[in-house]
Amino acid sequence: MSASTNQNLRLHSGFFHPTLRKWQSRLTSPSLDSLIYPLFVTDSDTPLVEQIESLPGQKRYSVDVLVDLLRPLVEKGLKSVILFGVINRLTKTADALSADSDENPVVKVIPILRKSFPDLLICCDLCLCAYTSHGHCGIFSEDPNSNESYIDNQKSIDRITEVALKYAQSGAHVVAPSDMMDGRVGAIKQKLIVNGLGSRVAVMAYSAKFASSFYGPFRDAAKSAPSFGDRSTYQLPCTSAGLAMRALKRDVDEGADVIMIKPGMPYLDIVRSARDRFPDMPVAVYQVSGEYAMLMHAVNKGTFDLEKAVMESLIAFHRAGADIVISYFVPFLLDKL
Ligand code: PBG
Ligand code: ZN
Repeated sequence: MSASTNQNLRLHSGFFHPTLRKWQSRLTSPSLDSLIYPLFVTDSDTPLVEQIESLPGQKRYSVDVLVDLLRPLVEKGLKSVILFGVINRLTKTADALSADSDENPVVKVIPILRKSFPDLLICCDLCLCAYTSHGHCGIFSEDPNSNESYIDNQKSIDRITEVALKYAQSGAHVVAPSDMMDGRVGAIKQKLIVNGLGSRVAVMAYSAKFASSFYGPFRDAAKSAPSFGDRSTYQLPCTSAGLAMRALKRDVDEGADVIMIKPGMPYLDIVRSARDRFPDMPVAVYQVSGEYAMLMHAVNKGTFDLEKAVMESLIAFHRAGADIVISYFVPFLLDKL
């Protein structure tokens, strides 16, 4: 059997870190171990803390201010973050050159976080859309017959695996491909293995990732909205539970260490099916930007109580079968759990 068909037999990448070992025990109720905090890191070369209009209370941070922001959170028990790069100064190109350059804010901040917080589990969102000139998650090719351009799956995963390797070499514990190309999980695994990182970097796959209105505030935050068209040919149609289950299976077969469903609350049926179909896998759910914004707007209008509503949403994720929850509410939750 070739190495590529054997990748789901490799286990060490899923438990080399204490927090990953927690993720491998069934986490059935809200806890510090189950939370990941998403952070936006900018390429500003002067210290910058920037409010994100679309995500009330969330901010973009430059590389040099992130440690100060995180220290009190780590002291309160923050176990894991997921990093998103946002660029203004660096250039966006058709092939996402800035995604893995030495000037990339994620590439720059990982070693600093590793040094400052030795126990923090560092995940990196892995995609091209924040770095491509067109804002799509992959690389385009032109069809020689029709002259139409299309997302080139092979070119996209070739580029995404290069970026994965760079984040891994910079010290990321977990890479999380969110592009939704076919075959990228296996290709990333293979790239990590041949570069000696196969058992020291986990792959958390955005597997059942639906084309969703609920990402709206994020695209504003990450400056990653597509300049034309939409993502409906690579993100899943919200009508299809079947494709979601096949996407989850595809990623498990290719060796994903963690599978993810996204968005969260509108897709709890998929979370439950994933838990039932893959009882041996850690299952993550992303309470996305639109879910956060919706709750915050309602709380700010006095519609309901923040703590009660957020706890209820967390309980729902775990009840549906998730072990891990990615949420913008993490700083608030550190005081409550
Ligand atoms: C990048 C990516 C997106 C999100 C996570 N990674 C946006 C998208 O796919 O359009 C959404 C996160 C959120 O809405 O909070 N591909
Ligand atoms: Zn993307």
